[in-house]
Amino acid sequence: MENLIVLDHPLIQHKISLLRDKNTKTKEFRELVLEISMLMGYEVTREMPLKEVEIETPVGVAKAKVLSGKKLGIVPILRAGLGMADGILNLLPMAKVGHIGLYREPDTLKPVEYYCKLPEDAEEREIVILDPMLATGGSASLAIQYLKEKGVKSIKLMCIIASEDGIKTINKEHPDVTIYAAAVDKTLDEKGYIVPGLGDAGDRLFGTK
Ligand code: PRP
Ligand code: URA
Repeated sequence: MENLIVLDHPLIQHKISLLRDKNTKTKEFRELVLEISMLMGYEVTREMPLKEVEIETPVGVAKAKVLSGKKLGIVPILRAGLGMADGILNLLPMAKVGHIGLYREPDTLKPVEYYCKLPEDAEEREIVILDPMLATGGSASLAIQYLKEKGVKSIKLMCIIASEDGIKTINKEHPDVTIYAAAVDKTLDEKGYIVPGLGDAGDRLFGTK
């Protein structure tokens, strides 16, 4: 598996264990997704460029660093990616947010698009796609394809649990995209769910089941 960065900080691992637990209720599940996204966001943004500025402190002038260069955009894949957006926005409140609505057709497991709205200047931004689950990889791959068709050149994919199959799909179809995952699971079941995974992320986030 290539272009994969596994973010397995102890705090993230602990929170993922709580997320996987079938007894974790919607409110806690949502809080955990946000917290894990924030912790992951710290690493996903590690290479953001800085520039030097002079800052007047109460006692002198400091040469200090501030963020500069390419601006960031985030694109949660609806629905479940929405749960991750606030985690990143807590770190980078000025990031623009696009949305791509996809659901998996239950029989074929192929993603179906129902919504797409991206920032006007998306092609000038580095875009981080957010989706907690990378299962077959079909949804993330289609989202990446849309962004490329809009001219986006720099794309990262951030997911909480990735399956080995999903990673292979993205490696094959989009070898230029780096995947950030907090955990990698081996298998998918016959319905395309990650095993052991955490179940249906959208339903658990929004309490729809
Ligand atoms: C889930 C999940 C991903 C997708 C992953 O969405 O949030 O978007 O499945 O599966 P894939 O890698 O096999 O494409 P789902 O279709 O359940 O929609 P929802 O988020 O609206 O519940
Ligand atoms: N979508 C989910 O929400 N969970 C899975 O395990 C696979 C796809």
